[in-house]
Amino acid sequence: MMRDDVKKVLFTEQEITERCRQLGKQITEDYKDRGNDLLIVGILKGSLPFFAELIKYIDLYVDIDFMIVSSYEGTESSGSIKISHDLGTEAEGRDLLVVEDIVDTGLTLSNLTEYLLSEKKARSVEIVTLLNKPSRRLEEVNIKYCGFEIENEFVIGYGLDFNQKYRNLPYIGVLKEELYQH
Ligand code: IMP
Repeated sequence: MMRDDVKKVLFTEQEITERCRQLGKQITEDYKDRGNDLLIVGILKGSLPFFAELIKYIDLYVDIDFMIVSSYEGTESSGSIKISHDLGTEAEGRDLLVVEDIVDTGLTLSNLTEYLLSEKKARSVEIVTLLNKPSRRLEEVNIKYCGFEIENEFVIGYGLDFNQKYRNLPYIGVLKEELYQH
C-alpha cells in the first residue's frame, strides 16, 4: 500500500493542523484592518490540502482563486514561469496572499510575484508556504508566512508529489530511497 513507501514522517497531520491554526490566526490579525479585500490564491496542485486547512482559520471575508503555474527547469536565475491556468478574479488594486506547498529554488514564486504585481496590478502580494527549503534557493523570495523549514531532502504528502503520486498522504514524509531509482 502507498503508506508503506514512507521512510519517515516529518510532520504529522496534527502538527500541520496546529500550524495552520497559528498561521490563520496571524493572517487574520495582519489583514483585519485592510477592508476585507483579501484574495487568497492557491497554486495547484500541490497547495490543495494546505490551502483547504489554512483558510478555515482565516476569519475574514476573503475571496479565493487558483492558478496552475510551473517553472521552466534549467534556465537558472533568468527562469520564467508557465501559467497554464490564470486567475479568474480581478486582482487589480487588491491584496493577494499566494498559498504554495514548498519554496525550493524560489524561481516559481519570484517570477509569479513579479507577474502578479506588474501584469495583474495587485496592490500587494504576500506568500504563505507550508514548507521552506532555504538551502536550495536560487532566487530570493520574500516569504511572509512559513509552516516549517526543512533540510535539503525530497518530501512527499499533504499535496506534495513524487511523479504525481503521494499527494493524498495525510502527513509529510520522506520516501524510501529505493523508490527514487525507478
Ligand atoms: P521552486 O521553488 O521554483 O524550485 O519550485 C517549487 C516547486 O517544486 C514546488 O511547488 C513543488 O512542486 C516542487 N518541489 C520542490 N521540492 C519538492 C519536494 O521536496 N517534494 C515535492 N515537490 C517539490
